[in-house]
Amino acid sequence: MEMLKRPRRLRYKEGLRKMVRETRMDKSSLIYPLFVKDGTQIQEEIPSMVGQYRFSVDCLPFELERLSKAGISSVMLFGIPEEKDEAGSQAYQENGIIQRALNEAKKQFPNLYYITDVCLCEYTSNGHCGLLKGEEVDNDSTLSLLSKIALSHVEAGADMVAPSDMMDGRVLAIRRTLDKYHYTRVPILSYAVKYASAFYGPFREAAGSAPSFGDRKSYQMDYHNRREGIKEALLDVEEGADIIMVKPALSYLDIISEVSKVTTIPIAAYSVSGEYAMVKAASQMGWMEEDKMICEMAVSTFRAGASVYLTYFAKELAQFMDEGRIG
Ligand code: PBG
Repeated sequence: MEMLKRPRRLRYKEGLRKMVRETRMDKSSLIYPLFVKDGTQIQEEIPSMVGQYRFSVDCLPFELERLSKAGISSVMLFGIPEEKDEAGSQAYQENGIIQRALNEAKKQFPNLYYITDVCLCEYTSNGHCGLLKGEEVDNDSTLSLLSKIALSHVEAGADMVAPSDMMDGRVLAIRRTLDKYHYTRVPILSYAVKYASAFYGPFREAAGSAPSFGDRKSYQMDYHNRREGIKEALLDVEEGADIIMVKPALSYLDIISEVSKVTTIPIAAYSVSGEYAMVKAASQMGWMEEDKMICEMAVSTFRAGASVYLTYFAKELAQFMDEGRIG
């Protein structure tokens, strides 16, 4: 039988399969999200995120040590303050949770790269990502607050800031503030294309940041929309974002792909808490194989066009890369 083209020819041997892989990954592309909480001697497991913990500042270095050993070089810090108020004022205090965490972490692990999530929802008593005017989240009055938070993170040692609030114009506002204070070299990783997603559920439990009324649909995006994702991405590029993020990752691979075609800056993708919880739950039930799911989800995200990957599975992925299972 004449058959000149046989795709299987390249699949018989593992070495050859690896040789012709189209997607390559590296541990340096991974960012590990970390929850830091007010208090001392705390390392508490997050119930809906088995294997993930909240750390107090004094316990944080133990985790940073584990990350360094695994070859992870970047973290994204989320703060969980003791006190919350209407204006989220704990977010920009010099001795706030993120600011103290940065101080301590940088002292002990100066070679790690520290990115901070800039948002109000962990700090406001109502759990919304901006200042309220009546029942509405007010865009423009939130901008100066976000700028203030970003500046205070950078002053405390953040290497990069990542606004995740989805207010219009916040990248420009933050860029202007950082530049005014001569932090022209600090990049902004914008959560540019962030959908209103049920997949954030476990995170909100972890951070105690669920909105006390309403939802986030007046600022986070409607998941029916693809072209709007491109609009958001391009706007943030114009405003001076250095890296743009698509979030969540797994249900939004089409968006990652589209955005990577129309922009020239790096694309990050965030495999969020709900994606982590799904994998954990299914594997605990014995229904699917955890390792293989982790690998497949990661590779598909890079294949779609992301070059930076935020994931709670960063340590596991680093190990799989070391073992040559992926990448
Ligand atoms: C803060 C923020 C959220 C996440 C990252 N930054 C929660 C939200 O928008 O409700 C979610 C991350 C995750 O689910 O892992 N705005």
